[in-house]
Amino acid sequence: MPNHRKPAKTETRSHNGSEIQAPKGKLGVMIPGMGAVATTFVAGVEAVRKGIAKPFGSLTQMGTIRLGKRTDARSPKVKEFVPLASLDDLVFTGWDIFEDDMYTAAAKAGVLERDLLDRVKPLLGSIKPRKAVFDHNYVKNLDGPNVKKGKNKMDLAEQVRADMRDFKKSSGAARLVTIWCGSTETFIEPSAVHQSIKAFEKALTQNDENIAPSMIYAYASLSEGVPFANGAPNLTVDIPVMHELSRQNDAPICGKDFKTGQTLMKTILAPGFKARLLGLSGWFSTNILGNRDGEVLDDPGSFKTKEESKLSVLEHILQPELYPDLYGNFTHKVRINYYPPRGDNKEGWDNIDIFGWLGYPMQIKVDFLCRDSILAAPIVLDLVLFNDLAQRSAELRGIGIQEWLSFYFKSPMTAPGLYPEHDLFIQLMKLKNTLRHLRGEELITHLGLEYYD
Ligand SMILES: NC(=O)c1ccc[n+]([C@@H]2O[C@H](COP(=O)([O-])OP(=O)(O)OC[C@H]3O[C@@H](n4cnc5c(N)ncnc54)[C@H](O)[C@@H]3O)[C@@H](O)[C@H]2O)c1
Repeated sequence: MPNHRKPAKTETRSHNGSEIQAPKGKLGVMIPGMGAVATTFVAGVEAVRKGIAKPFGSLTQMGTIRLGKRTDARSPKVKEFVPLASLDDLVFTGWDIFEDDMYTAAAKAGVLERDLLDRVKPLLGSIKPRKAVFDHNYVKNLDGPNVKKGKNKMDLAEQVRADMRDFKKSSGAARLVTIWCGSTETFIEPSAVHQSIKAFEKALTQNDENIAPSMIYAYASLSEGVPFANGAPNLTVDIPVMHELSRQNDAPICGKDFKTGQTLMKTILAPGFKARLLGLSGWFSTNILGNRDGEVLDDPGSFKTKEESKLSVLEHILQPELYPDLYGNFTHKVRINYYPPRGDNKEGWDNIDIFGWLGYPMQIKVDFLCRDSILAAPIVLDLVLFNDLAQRSAELRGIGIQEWLSFYFKSPMTAPGLYPEHDLFIQLMKLKNTLRHLRGEELITHLGLEYYD
């Protein structure tokens, strides 16, 4: 039987809030899926470290947090308020089904200009993908040569665990974090094999088809006591077995599906409509994109996984059960079209049919010409640093799902039975209040009556 227990942690230091270990030594970042998002993230970190560029979009690097009263004028940077790993301490590895090193993969992804890539080439060129756990049946529009062989899925999980230990040793990392930046897998529903560690391990040895490759990485990571963040809409860690492993091994989990372009806009706009009690009769969203992610999503199985993730957002924000007249009967459609000429530069159109006073209809059109991986990269960075913070926090490391990181996800994971918060501003308040709580600072409620005493 595999050993899931990781060694006990030492060296804690206290604050006014709860205990958080200092981020000593290097932090190893392990990335299954070294495509557009992963390479844009790593190239960006290196560019920032070299002083070539700034980490726009990253809350951990550029964000501030208000403490105390508005009159106190205390707004430190997030990274000065909580003890986060420094960018200089990050080291990287990854897995992919293609053999390209990160420099070649980034050049092929075509997100960043060659000039910038050449300035970070020594690091990117040195990161070569480990052999992946992959099965074409879970990503129909993809196939590649750099794939592990094993006698069953348990054997593959053991190989991934060996990769993780090897990386930790060779890089000298003191701690590790895994973040899934691999493709969207075909739609899978939770089933009996996902319900407990025992059932899952038996199913691994039996090559059960309900276990997708992403779950094998997640199982390996959590068994090694390493946090796992899920950037794709795949089920992966959103199943009871992973919740159990996460809590048992003090390895935080979060997911799923990075909230970047169109869904980010939705979770900004919809709370505004609800705040002003503007009704919704329909929201039609369509996208064209031409990167490999778009190609993968051209398969109906992978698209269904993405569609489920994108569709749930409005229902939860608008709460039709509480506001039947306003939101009881709206049509919500999402389309993604693979259109190669656009590459990573996606265009997302939204047609929004709303109504106001006495039911008079109005329309809003949003045309977001975005860059998918440019929006995703700072999210990857923040998730890496916050998951590492969580694993060093006495209060967070053993709770399993890190709901305070919902801010970054289209389909936030929550405790069973709890509905997710999708409103970006509630999510941000939740995140910042968690940080205040960890450091023993007063939570901010925005009541503000004390200013008028
Ligand atoms: N860019 C965004 O805005 C955004 C937003 C939300 C979610 N995502 C998700 O993030 C993921 C990455 O996006 P991307 O644009 O970098 O895609 P990409 O296709 O460029 O990269 C994904 C990489 O994962 C590899 N891969 C697939 N299965 C694998 C496996 N089992 N093991 C190892 N590697 C594997 C592929 O070969 C590919 O290189 C996708 O699932 C995407 O849906 C992206």
